[in-house]
Amino acid sequence: MYKINDNYLKLPGSYLFSTIAKKVNAFTATNPDKKIIRLGIGDVTQPLSPSIIKRLHEAVDEMAARETFKGYAPDLGYEFLRSAIAKNDYEARGAKIGIDEIFISDGAKSDSGNIGDIFAKDNKIAVCDPVYPVYVDTNAMAGRTGDYDSANSRWTNVIYMPCLEENGFAPQLPEQVPDIIYLCFPNNPTGATITKDELQKWVDYALANNAVIIYDAAYEAYISEENVPHTIYECDGARKCAIEIRSFSKNAGFTGTRLGFTVVPKDIVCDGVMLNSLWARRHGTKFNGAPYIIQAAGAACYTPEGKQEIRELVGYYMQNAKTILEGLKEAGFTVSGGVNAPYIWLKTDGMTSWEFFDYLLNEANVVGTPGSGFGPAGEGYFRLTAFGTHENTVEAIDRIKKLRA
Ligand SMILES: Cc1ncc(COP(=O)(O)O)c(C=O)c1O
Repeated sequence: MYKINDNYLKLPGSYLFSTIAKKVNAFTATNPDKKIIRLGIGDVTQPLSPSIIKRLHEAVDEMAARETFKGYAPDLGYEFLRSAIAKNDYEARGAKIGIDEIFISDGAKSDSGNIGDIFAKDNKIAVCDPVYPVYVDTNAMAGRTGDYDSANSRWTNVIYMPCLEENGFAPQLPEQVPDIIYLCFPNNPTGATITKDELQKWVDYALANNAVIIYDAAYEAYISEENVPHTIYECDGARKCAIEIRSFSKNAGFTGTRLGFTVVPKDIVCDGVMLNSLWARRHGTKFNGAPYIIQAAGAACYTPEGKQEIRELVGYYMQNAKTILEGLKEAGFTVSGGVNAPYIWLKTDGMTSWEFFDYLLNEANVVGTPGSGFGPAGEGYFRLTAFGTHENTVEAIDRIKKLRA
């Protein structure tokens, strides 16, 4: 008789965003005349930019002619894209990353979930609290997190690193030493970042303790301040202990188009085995490549026109972030984030995160994300995203301000 992977049964409740969707659907069913503004999910609203669309069209046409048709992509991804990444995302930042250390994928969610495949089950993970849920849930599916304790909303075998107002929403080096450390900067959900010196401490800690860092830099394009690292490989020694995950979703709007990549330097060696070889094996066996047309469009992001359009796109969303940040401050909320990230993290003023969700939905018809959905230390906080349209963002903030008037 077959058996299921019963680790799945340990996963608590339904996924955060399906709970939100259910609540919003119930609200619209009873209030069909109300215009809901969604500043909840981190999905983008602006279309792909002209040079990316142009390249997509060209690539589609290439697929229509025998001479230029492409079948399966190379395991690691097309070299034209990996070279562009190595040059623009790494060499330009003073970081040396070889093109055979870059693995093209269909996005950062898959990679951050799949990367666990190359690690043994008895590794102990450390995560920020609050955290992007994928890191914990996928480790739970792999049987690495112990049991879920619903009394305190925590897994028994996970090291949680609280990111609170007191520590500027930056995790402290954990006392109990983990094997795998998940870091994400600029951060989802808090919108916080850390400086290069602070990140260097994590790299030093990982090296000193034989730990590996999985660094999710999906929001790198939103960095606006000088001393914030764009890649973990700006830190000395990171090539020996850090895997970096990137996405084309938030910078170039590929959420529906799907493209990302993971960097696994060849210098990360465990018991004489390169993690790069393991990930290459995993990638080649379980993944058959991102589509050629999408990789071609990805490469267009690195042309001068593509770069300029991406800057404008990011600028558009960051203008929304400013509208939210300043508007909420004016309304008397305690807010953070929104400077190097498209997320604004606000305190819910005595309400629980879900109470605040209901309050905002019912009274302002604005949808955000309850902080507690990202982990227990997110209780009492709420996330708004800058990914809405400019008009909706202005209107949402006006409505919230009126509530406090
Ligand atoms: C921290 C973080 N990593 C990864 C992702 C997913 O990125 P992708 O669209 O490339 O799968 C998200 C999406 O919200 C995210 O917030």
